[in-house]
Amino acid sequence: PASSPSPPRAEIGIIGGSGFYAFFDDATEVSVTTPFGEPSDPLTMGVVNGRHVAFVPRHGRDHRFPPHRINYRANLWALRSCGVRQVLAPCAVGSLRPELKPGSLVVPDQLVDRTSGRPQTFYDDAAVHVSFADPYCPRGRRTVVEVAARSGWPAQDGGTMVVVEGPRFSTRAESRWYADLGWTVVNMTGHPEAVLARELGLCYTAIALVTDLDAGLAEGEGVSQEEVFAVFREHVSRLRDLLRLVVAELPVERDCPCAFALDGLSLPFELPG
Ligand code: ADE
Repeated sequence: PASSPSPPRAEIGIIGGSGFYAFFDDATEVSVTTPFGEPSDPLTMGVVNGRHVAFVPRHGRDHRFPPHRINYRANLWALRSCGVRQVLAPCAVGSLRPELKPGSLVVPDQLVDRTSGRPQTFYDDAAVHVSFADPYCPRGRRTVVEVAARSGWPAQDGGTMVVVEGPRFSTRAESRWYADLGWTVVNMTGHPEAVLARELGLCYTAIALVTDLDAGLAEGEGVSQEEVFAVFREHVSRLRDLLRLVVAELPVERDCPCAFALDGLSLPFELPG
């Protein structure tokens, strides 16, 4: 598919989650169209700690897209078409572990997909099967964990994020089941975002901010949307500060497996950017 004519360049992309609708004080706005439709909003681009960054609010600036209606393909395609190769993906999650309280950070290393019916590939008309054994970029993960520890807001290194279809929250039985299976946090947007990044050969690092104890935890009363938004809002400026530090420490040249994820696959079209 053809892309729009060459937009301004960025190397790092950030996909802002619930309550995280802007990243720059002084940004250039860029409308990008893609063969897969429109991203959630125009991208904003700026320079942060010497690195060129593009930002897209996952749900739109006014949070008009619920998790199952986000055009994940367009968001990732748009970022890549601006030159982005490394994506940082903050998101709100519910905790499945009593020790992970609201305000905790987790940098998951595994994902379980419980979504259904969401477009989850760019390659509908071709046999392109990417490896997804390790869904997240090991280099991006390490950078976030190290920077978070130094910044005084340590992040749990690893954990499994189960992504539910929503938009409802989980029942207690579902939530207990996820916890019994050993999973760590639950969310509604981590898939297909992660796999679509992989399909474009992008590094993708989820940064999960615990906003609530999910329904299965004894202390959890059951989750409310209000609680999720309020806790995310409370931490968003700190999260933005952390991301500014992370951006500075991401590699300039990639040597992680993500950079080679598409080697040997025959793609039906050229990728943008
Ligand atoms: N996002 C934030 N908290 C969540 C929860 N408890 N379940 C699913 N998605 C969430």
